[in-house]
This record gives sequence, C-alpha cells and structure tokens, in this order.
Amino acid sequence: MSYLNYSLKKLNTFNLSTKVYKLFIVKNLHDLCKLWKEYEKKCMPCLILGEGSNVLFLNNFYGLIIINRIKGIYIRESKNHWNLHVNSGENWHYLVEFTIKNKIYGLENLALIPGCVGSAPIQNIGAYGTSIKKFCKYVDIINPVNKKIQRINNKNCNFKYRDSIFKNEYYKKHVIISVGLFLSKKWIPNLEYYSIKHLKNYNITPQKIFHYICNIRKKKIPHPKIHGNAGSFFKNPYISIKKGLKLLKIFPTMPYIIKHHYIKLSAGWLINQCNFSKCIYNGVTVYSKQSLIILNKFNKSSGIDILNFAIKIYNTVGKKFDIWLEPEVRIIDSYGEINPLIYFKK
Ligand code: FAD
Ligand code: EPU
Repeated sequence: MSYLNYSLKKLNTFNLSTKVYKLFIVKNLHDLCKLWKEYEKKCMPCLILGEGSNVLFLNNFYGLIIINRIKGIYIRESKNHWNLHVNSGENWHYLVEFTIKNKIYGLENLALIPGCVGSAPIQNIGAYGTSIKKFCKYVDIINPVNKKIQRINNKNCNFKYRDSIFKNEYYKKHVIISVGLFLSKKWIPNLEYYSIKHLKNYNITPQKIFHYICNIRKKKIPHPKIHGNAGSFFKNPYISIKKGLKLLKIFPTMPYIIKHHYIKLSAGWLINQCNFSKCIYNGVTVYSKQSLIILNKFNKSSGIDILNFAIKIYNTVGKKFDIWLEPEVRIIDSYGEINPLIYFKK
C-alpha cells in the first residue's frame, strides 16, 4: 500500500501531524528492497519505521517512509530451550503475550513495551531489571541495495544500556529483518528491580509477573493515544563514582545505583527537582507521575515545541547538577535523523 503527502499522526506515538512525501507499508522483503533502491537512486531520503514509538519528527519528511509489517513467528524446540525466529514487523508486546500463552517464559518483564520486534535490539529495549540482550541469540540484517543478508550474533551486537551496534556501525545502510531469541525451559523469575522485589513473597508465576508489570506500566506511563509521548525522553545518566559522591553530599536524598565503576542516576528525579511538572509550554509538559516522559498533552503541539521543551529541561538540569542528559528518542528532520548534539550541547 502506498500513500502520497500522508499524515503520520497515527504512525508516531507523539501524535505529531507531520506529513511524509511518500509512505509505503511493506509486508515482504522483496518490496522493501525494491522501494529502498528506487529512492536511493533518486537521492531521496528513505527511513524505515516500526511503530514510531521512539521518534520525534521536527518537520515534514521530504522522502520515503517505509512502515515495516513483515510478520512471522517460527518456533523450534530443543531439549532445554525454545528457539524463536521472529520477523521484524511483529509487534513486541504481541510476541511477549504469545510466548506466555504458549508456555514459553522469560520475556514477561518486558511486557507492554511499544514498538516492533525489529526495533527492539536497536536500543536494547529494557525494563524491570532485564533487557533483550539476555534473550537475543542473533539479529539478521539486510543491505537493501545489494540484498546481502548478515547474521549478527549476540556478542557482536555490542548491546549496552539503550545502545547497540545497530545505532552505530550498522546504522542507516541496513535494515533489521528478523531477530532470534533463545529462551530457557527452566524458568527462573527475575524480581531484582526495586518495584517488583516484593513479589518474591508470593507463589510467583510468569503470568503473574506479566500482569503485574502491565498494571504498573499502565499506572506510570500515559497511553500515547491519550497524551502523545515516546516513553522516556532522556536516558538515565551514568556518572563517575567521584562525581556521584560529590553530588550526594549536596543532594543526600538523590536516588542512585552503583553499577560496576559508575553511579546510575535517575533522570526522572533530576527533572523533578527542577519542577517541570508545573510548567506547560505550547501544550508540552512532563507527566506528573514520571518526569522523564515528555507529553504532547493535547496532541496539538509540534515537534519543534517538544524539542524546545526538551532543550529547556536539558539546560535547567545541566545548570543545576552539572549533568548533561542524553536523549533516548531519535530526532528526525525533513531529510532524516539528525545528531542530537546539534541541539543538546552545553
Ligand atoms: P520506531 O520508533 O519506529 O523506530 C526507532 C528507530 O529505529 C528509528 O531510527 C527507525 O528508523 C529505526 N528502525 C525501525 N525499524 C527498523 C528496522 N527494521 N531496521 C533498522 N532500523 C529500524 N523503551 C525501552 O527500552 N523500555 C521501555 O520501558 C519503554 N517504554 C516505552 C513506553 C512508551 C509509552 C513509549 C511510547 C515508548 C517506550 N519505549 C521503551 C521506547 C520504544 O518502545 C522502543 O524504543 C521501541 O523499540 C521502538 O520501536 P518502534 O518500532 O516504535 O521504533
Ligand atoms: N524517579 C523520580 N521521579 C520521577 C521518575 C523517577 O524520583 O519522575 C525516581 C524514583 O526514585 C524511582 C526511580 O527514579 O524509584 C526509578 O523510576 P522508574 O522505575 O519509573 O524508572 P526510570 O529509571 O525512570 C527506566 C526506563 C524505562 C523503564 C523503567 C522500568 C530509562 C531511560 N527508562 O525508567 O524505560 O520502563 O525504567 O524499568 O532507562 C523508555 O526507555 O522509554 C522507558 C520507559
């Protein structure tokens, strides 16, 4: 299916009314490669999207957007494991639900994260004490121009906190076509995250964790259909232990976690200290229960309004704590993704 001068309002979770010159919804690899090649030949920008839940459009897009709906879930069983080969256009939460219904456990902590399976390895989606890194066996990518397919095994994906090789070396010239997941038949609950620790005292099952996490997420994160948002706008900062201890002397109530040689801070807490939940600029604010989530409150603001509000947060937090937040959301202008350092710099 193809559309001309199409509004992306229903295809990005900030609910921005950005228009795209040409939009295609693809259901197979052949069409994806053909379109990509055609637009590259014309030197027109080309962008692939899953569900638009981690992007901020600043302006209309002057090229081609391909919406990936290449589906398929294939399961292979070995003595101790389930091997899943999932095509990149599947919905992530649908996959989590599907595995649990089929008595395949492990993904329950990652319930209700929006987006497609193919986007999940890009920022190594994570929540409630785990991330896709723990279950991903491989990621298959294609260069749509020469149709060369490569399999990247887990250890070569360079998975880190909200980062992977797919945001770096394999960025732009490759498309993720499928993801291989490896789930143990011996289920061990993961209840390390502070807000689910207490579940240890119950007769816990994967289904109970799944429902519990869906419920807290529904309470903590506004549904994008009601108030446009892209989840956490910024990443949580990692700082040196020395800097962390210095800050803790000034702000003794600041929450933190020691991770290897770093201290991980809560960006939400830092933003909270700057009282942004009381501010609203051109319809943009932060969610009252979770300051890390920037809202297009009335779904009428523009991408630039959201960007300006995020820059205000960045500067205020930076000046107060000398901590310069890094956006998690990908920023897209008329010709493609832009380097956030253009806007987010000291
Ligand atoms: P899109 O926004 O469509 O794309 C994101 C980027 O990936 C773009 O640069 C796009 O060009 C690129 N891309 C998309 N598909 C492909 C492909 N097949 N090949 C190559 N590049 C591709 N994230 C978390 O980690 N944890 C959370 O708890 C979490 N909670 C969220 C809650 C809400 C309400 C929202 C709106 C977002 C949340 N996110 C969270 C962020 C988001 O869900 C993830 O980043 C998700 O993986 C994005 O998927 P998507 O399909 O929507 O990607
Ligand atoms: N906090 C505040 N005020 C806030 C928000 C958080 O004080 O407004 C403090 C509290 O101390 C709270 C702690 O931060 O106990 C942690 O908060 P929360 O559990 O909500 O997690 P988070 O660190 O704010 C991260 C991810 C989320 C993920 C949750 C749950 C990032 C950038 N965000 O948020 O991911 O769902 O943990 O694991 O790492 C996303 O990436 O889009 C996203 C939503």
